[in-house]
Parts: sequence; structure tokens; C-alpha cells
Amino acid sequence: MDSIVVTGGAPLSGQIQIAGAKNAALALMPATLLSEEPLTLTNAPRLSDIATMTQLLQSLGAEVTALQDGKVQVMSSHGAINTTAEYDIVRKMRASNLVLGPLLAREGHAVVSLPGGCAIGARPMDIHTDGLEKMGAEIDLRDGYLHAKAAGGRLKGAVIDFPFASVGATENIMMAATLAKGTTVINNAAREPEIVDLADCLRSMGAQIDGDGTSTITVQGVDRLGAATHQVVTDRIELGTYMLAPVFTGGEVECLGGRIDLVASFVEKLREAGIDVTETANGLKVSRNGNRPKAVNVTTEPFPGFPTDLQAQMMAMLCLAEGTSVLEEKIFENRFMHAPELMRMGAQIDVQGGTATVTGVEKLKGAPVMATDLRASVSLILAGLAAEGETVVNRVYHLDRGYEQLVRKLSGVGAQVERVSN
Ligand code: UD1
Repeated sequence: MDSIVVTGGAPLSGQIQIAGAKNAALALMPATLLSEEPLTLTNAPRLSDIATMTQLLQSLGAEVTALQDGKVQVMSSHGAINTTAEYDIVRKMRASNLVLGPLLAREGHAVVSLPGGCAIGARPMDIHTDGLEKMGAEIDLRDGYLHAKAAGGRLKGAVIDFPFASVGATENIMMAATLAKGTTVINNAAREPEIVDLADCLRSMGAQIDGDGTSTITVQGVDRLGAATHQVVTDRIELGTYMLAPVFTGGEVECLGGRIDLVASFVEKLREAGIDVTETANGLKVSRNGNRPKAVNVTTEPFPGFPTDLQAQMMAMLCLAEGTSVLEEKIFENRFMHAPELMRMGAQIDVQGGTATVTGVEKLKGAPVMATDLRASVSLILAGLAAEGETVVNRVYHLDRGYEQLVRKLSGVGAQVERVSN
């Protein structure tokens, strides 16, 4: 299995091109199940999670073709759809559950394996299924699979109040509602940029959606959706990750394609920590000239709050800050697994339930480390950029899920990073 070896200390300078958003693409690809005409996505990232979604859609009978330059064409022709999403694929990636809404809307029935837990928490699907039941679906759990059927063969519009602004449930219900009979209103909807991106794409396909980006989304069902070409929004988590890199090393990095509206709460915290962030004609530039960042307190929240997917990377930075920071994780119950690994590098962190208190140290030291999820893994790479000596990050397959060409991008700005096969 491959490892990534980081030798700390090199200041960074240059530009990094930010890819299209993994989490947007994972919702956009299943949208193809709502139409019998092709959906072409441009700026799709090349990641193993996208390969898993490709495999899932192919298992359902869709055709997925990788074109040149990050273009992906997805098509699910008339009569070709199988409505069972098998455990063997779904267990690999929770976002597989995003086929449930589209399959049910298109075919009137679907059987989708429950994804099961993952390293960061239990992650149930009750908000998705309660919403679909309000739209007239009957859903039973049998043999680990959700068996869903729309009464009368077609979902109907409903007013749905989410108990929590779940990203995946908002995407599933929004997609299902595009072909339902009548109007669906989602109250307490998630407001993430990936939701707006999905709504934009669905509108290009002919859907009638209003209010995406706010807490109330209204969808007027239509009889059919058509073809579309859509550009995947910038990956705000990859953006935030690379914006942090020069904070660890000193120097200056411009993230091409970065937009402040995608990462406003994160930028606010960086500036509070004394880091310079400037908007350029092509993206966002971050620089640090000698001074250590200052301690800041961070609480993760649904968008527009501080993203849980940048919590691990921020914690790594705070390990080197001047003073004591408190990090509160409010989205997932078990998302501090990077803390003990950072402590192996000399960090001072005290975790009590969902709260981590980080007392900054002047130096971290390289060590062999590993992590159990994607963002935790990249936080160790960032810490390695600042550490004395060599940091060997194992279980690289987590990084391959969400960071396209990580080694090339970081070494392109002067980092000493290499991938080695063990
Ligand atoms: C998405 C992102 C993930 C990000 C998360 C929160 C994708 C592919 N993944 O995941 O990277 O970390 O948003 O920003 O876009 N919950 C329930 N019942 C449900 C659904 C969710 O209790 O039916 C809970 C979850 O256990 C979790 C919280 O709600 O504690 C947030 O989950 P949700 O917003 O649904 O995250 P995902 O869509 O799975």
C-alpha cells in the first residue's frame, strides 16, 4: 500500500489549481437518473469517489463516459434502468444513497442498501426516508436494504420540515421532487454551495426550483427532464486545505478558481488568526511572513458556518498557533481521530467529547502517522509540511478519495512531498 512522505520546512510559493467539487459531482452524477438524455459535467474531479459513483451508476444501467479534460458524460436511456443499489458498492461510499431519490422519482420504486456507519459517526438516513414518506413513498428496511415504493407509482409534492439541515437529504428530496406531482417545499434545507450547484444543473435539465441557497427550497414537479451540460462548482474543501498550506510553511500560495463566498467563514477565522488572505483576479492568495498564527476558537456548523470538512486541517494549524484554541465539532460525533496522530507529532490536544482544546507549540516533529478518514489524512500532510524531519502518512487511499493529484499540486509550489509504494 502506498504512503506519502513529507519532509517539513520548505517555504511554499506559487499557484495551485483547485478542482471541481467532489461533493457536488457526487450529487450531480445521480441526477442523470432523472432524465433519459445525456448529462455532461465539465470540471469533474478525477477521484476514487467519482470512480465509485461511476461504478454504482453503471450497475444501475447508466452509461458513464469519461471524456477529455475532466468532462464526464452520464446517460440513463429509456428502459435501461435497474433499481437496486447493491451493498457491495454502497458500503464503500455513503454518498451512494443519493441514487434513492432519483430512482424513486423516475421508476416509482427502488431498493437501496443502507450505507452503514463510517469512521466519523453513525450517519443514519432517517431525514431522507421521512421526507420521501411525506411525498407518498412506502419504505421498509429488509435485509439491510431500504425497499421504497411510491404510492400510485409517482411521488407527490409535500411540505417537509427537516429536523436538521442535512446536505444529503436536501439533495435527495430536491432531486425526487423535480419529477413529483405538485409542489414540494423543504423547510430547514441545507444551504451549501453544492446544493445550489445541483439546483443550477437540475434547472438546466428543465426542473423548476426556487430558494436554493436559502433555508426554504420550493420545487414544482414537471413531467420530464432533458439533456444539459453543467460545470461543477469549485471544491471549497480542497480550496480551504491548500489555502492553509503556506500558513504551515511560510511563503505565499495563490489558489486558482478560489472564491471568497465559498469559504467566507473559514477566511474570517484565518484573518482572526492573523493570516493575510487576498482576492486576486484568478482566485485567492494566502501568505504568512514569519509570525505564528494566533489561537482562534472554531465551531463547525452547517453552511454558511465553519465546515466540518475543514475542521481537521484547522486543528493542525492551531497546533502551531500562539495560545490556546477551542474547537467544537457539532456535525459529527466522532470526528477528532486526527488528534492522537497529531499528538504523535508533538501537538498538545485535549479531547473531551465534541470539544478539543489545542495548546499551540512552536514545533511539530515528523512521525509515521495514519488516519481513518479523508480530511484527517490531509491534516497530517499539512502538519508534516511544518514538522521537523520526515512524516510518513499511511493509508493513502483516503486521500485518493478526495484530493486529485495532491503530490503534484503540493510539490508544484515547492513542498517536499513524495508518494512511495511500500
Ligand atoms: C455531506 C458531505 C460531507 C460533509 C457533510 C456535512 C457529501 C457527499 N458529503 O455529507 O463531506 O461532511 O455533508 O457538511 O456531500 N443525519 C441524520 N439523519 C439523516 C442524515 C443526516 O441524523 O438522515 C446527521 C448525520 O449523522 C450527521 C449530520 O446529520 O451528524 C450531517 O449529515 P449530512 O448533512 O446529511 O451529511 P452528508 O450529506 O452525509
